[in-house]
Amino acid sequence: MLRLRSGELSVGFSYMDFLSRALADVMGRNICVEHSTLLSTGVGAMSVVDVMARRHSIRAYSSEPVPLELIEKLMTAASLAPSAFNNQPWRYYIATGESRRKLGEIMVQGTHFLEDYLHVIGHEMNEWVLKWYSELGQAPVVIACTLPVTDDELQNLNGYLATGSSIQNMLLAATEIGLGSCYLTFSYWVSDEIAKMLEVPEDRTIVALIALGYPEEDPVAPPREVQSIAVYRD
Ligand SMILES: Cc1cc2nc3c(=O)[nH]c(=O)nc-3n(C[C@H](O)[C@H](O)[C@H](O)COP(=O)(O)O)c2cc1C
Repeated sequence: MLRLRSGELSVGFSYMDFLSRALADVMGRNICVEHSTLLSTGVGAMSVVDVMARRHSIRAYSSEPVPLELIEKLMTAASLAPSAFNNQPWRYYIATGESRRKLGEIMVQGTHFLEDYLHVIGHEMNEWVLKWYSELGQAPVVIACTLPVTDDELQNLNGYLATGSSIQNMLLAATEIGLGSCYLTFSYWVSDEIAKMLEVPEDRTIVALIALGYPEEDPVAPPREVQSIAVYRD
């Protein structure tokens, strides 16, 4: 097992450099991207792998609001992900202020589904987990990640893979600019209610939520298994 700490690995250029190059490439192909969303952080350069190692799921946030310009940077990062036929299936619904408050109320309704998971999480964790899902660590921003509803299995597979890539871009960009985030699918139980509140069109489905804000904790990275994840065939 390997415990990653930021700074241990390096590939020599920053994630934002990488995204900026990709963006330049997109612009070179005459696809319109607003200049206002160009990436630039002012944060010292970290390598892509440094950023990956520094990203942890954050479950406690400060009340400091996240400036809109930073959310726009995250959307730019999200938009740079690969997708089948470049179909960019992802759309993000960003809840702040009153929408964020209403989303919290809906999440509270969903916590009774936790009972089904008590045997997994253990009774002693129950209180903590209940608080986490009710409050989402006081995250000032919650992003609902959506993709189109389809009966086509391949399109569905492509949609999930592309949207997962797009979400990871967003999480890494958030890390680089000092924001914390947590991916969550526990919202599955109440995703219809959340979609209604955020006015997500019926032809799209919410696949995950991202809690976002300035971190108020610095968790230890959960261990990672590296040795056994690859099978080499020569
Ligand atoms: C698809 C997906 C769904 C997840 N759902 C939840 C969730 O519902 N609640 C939660 O607290 N964390 C959730 N997580 C975060 C994982 O628990 C976390 O990524 C994992 O434990 C590794 O920790 P790290 O993100 O700090 O590296 C989810 C992560 C992924 C990728």
